[in-house]
Amino acid sequence: MLQLRLVAAAAAVLLSLSLLILPSTTYAHNITRILDKYPDFSTFNHYLTLTQLAPEINRRETITVCAVDNARMSDLLSKHLNIGAIKNVLSLHVLLDYFDSKKLHQITDGTALAATMFQATGSAPGSAGFVNITDLKGGKVGFAPQDNGGVVSATFVKPVEAIPYNISVIQISSILPSPEAEAPAPGPSQTNITALMSAHGCKVFAETLLANPAEQTFEDNVESGLTIFCPGDDAMKSFMPKYKNLTAAGKQSLLEYHGIPVYQSLAGLKSSNGLTNTLATDGASKFDFTVQNDGTDVTIITKIVTAKIMNTLVDEQPLAIYELNKVLMPKELFKAALSPTPAPAPAPEADAESPKPSKKKHKSPPAPAAPSDSPADAPDGDVADQTTDSNGAVRFEGGRFVGVILSLWFAFLQL
Ligand SMILES: *[C@@H]1O[C@H](CO)[C@@H](O)[C@H](O)[C@H]1NC(C)=O
Ligand SMILES: *[C@@H]1O[C@H](CO)[C@@H](O)[C@H](O)[C@H]1NC(C)=O
Ligand SMILES: *[C@@H]1O[C@H](CO)[C@@H](O)[C@H](O)[C@H]1NC(C)=O
Ligand SMILES: *[C@@H]1O[C@H](CO)[C@@H](O)[C@H](O)[C@H]1NC(C)=O
Ligand SMILES: *[C@@H]1O[C@H](CO)[C@@H](O)[C@H](O)[C@H]1NC(C)=O
Repeated sequence: MLQLRLVAAAAAVLLSLSLLILPSTTYAHNITRILDKYPDFSTFNHYLTLTQLAPEINRRETITVCAVDNARMSDLLSKHLNIGAIKNVLSLHVLLDYFDSKKLHQITDGTALAATMFQATGSAPGSAGFVNITDLKGGKVGFAPQDNGGVVSATFVKPVEAIPYNISVIQISSILPSPEAEAPAPGPSQTNITALMSAHGCKVFAETLLANPAEQTFEDNVESGLTIFCPGDDAMKSFMPKYKNLTAAGKQSLLEYHGIPVYQSLAGLKSSNGLTNTLATDGASKFDFTVQNDGTDVTIITKIVTAKIMNTLVDEQPLAIYELNKVLMPKELFKAALSPTPAPAPAPEADAESPKPSKKKHKSPPAPAAPSDSPADAPDGDVADQTTDSNGAVRFEGGRFVGVILSLWFAFLQL
């Protein structure tokens, strides 16, 4: 009995730890798992994963997936469409309504128009994102893109699986033809992350990344979900002396510390406080940080620095890139900065940028101000970042008001 309890307790701890480390979403259904049971649909299934439609399908409720068998998928693949176009074609096969066999054969007035996921992407022109379902003579059910000139292009073959009224998977006789969906389209993982960062205020970080093996680590994770926290140019520039001082392994870890191997929307970050693993996490090297909301802001807290999300560069499954106002300094690489030796408190304005001065103070006592050519020795990176960074000092956009309040707070403290 006692043993059982211990096991249960241990399991509970493990469970909460795992929840803590990767705040992930659980879905009611898993299209990959459903189709895995049917070898006839293995190609279709494979392409749902490759095009990253699978998580999109799992996220939705009340949908119908019109699958085609491997032979019909070969027809599609023989057109040599790019991956973005294949994604659009397949998304035309995901209806945003629940149609199981019974409902298909009982369509009111014999015809219905269903919006598809192609419509939902916003890339379908006109009515190209709608599918017309028609009850035909002899109990057959026909499917066609709405603008197919009244020609039925596929028919219902059989139900595959249904979870009323969340998801219905059916087989149809062929791929729905659509010149609009087949038009070349940007692929899901064709985003050049460094080019994107360069163009949006994180050029120094992007260039540093391009010169380091860490770049490959980022690339390898885009498809399965990636969130990047790139320090803005001012922050990165003033950090470069410290970066150059790191060993090769340290440089790679520092860069990889700025990515987490899951896609996290801004909304998701706002609703999930907690410890998070990073791309640098590897066995004994924890390299984790804490995501914490501070009112409307999202902050990333390491033992050494508290950075804030200033800007969203991209936030679209499976990739999110946010700009930070500071470089994240992991304790694993900047132990010296954690030195507990007490020293004079930093100047008030030095902390004006940090939203919660009172909280941080408890954790890391002010650092030695003595041989202060070494900025890494600052209490939490704030001071160092600011004294070295003339541009970045008042980067607290719209934050003057908060600055004033904090100054008042400090003035009050000094009394
Ligand atoms: C349908 O989805 C809802 C919401 O995700 C879930 O609570 C429910 O259990 C699902 N129904 C079935 C039969 O799985
Ligand atoms: C869905 O199922 C597949 C295959 O079983 C699995 O690899 C994948 O992790 C599952 N996805 C989710 C979100 O659970
Ligand atoms: C669907 O197609 C059929 C046959 O071409 C047509 O009669 C019907 O009006 C169409 N339905 C809708 C809703 O467009
Ligand atoms: C991405 O863009 C950068 C320039 O910012 C370029 O050097 C790099 O080769 C590109 N990567 C890919 C995979 O195209
Ligand atoms: C670089 O490392 C040396 C030795 O660890 C240290 O004394 C120096 O302050 C560091 N410089 C910077 C800019 O961090």
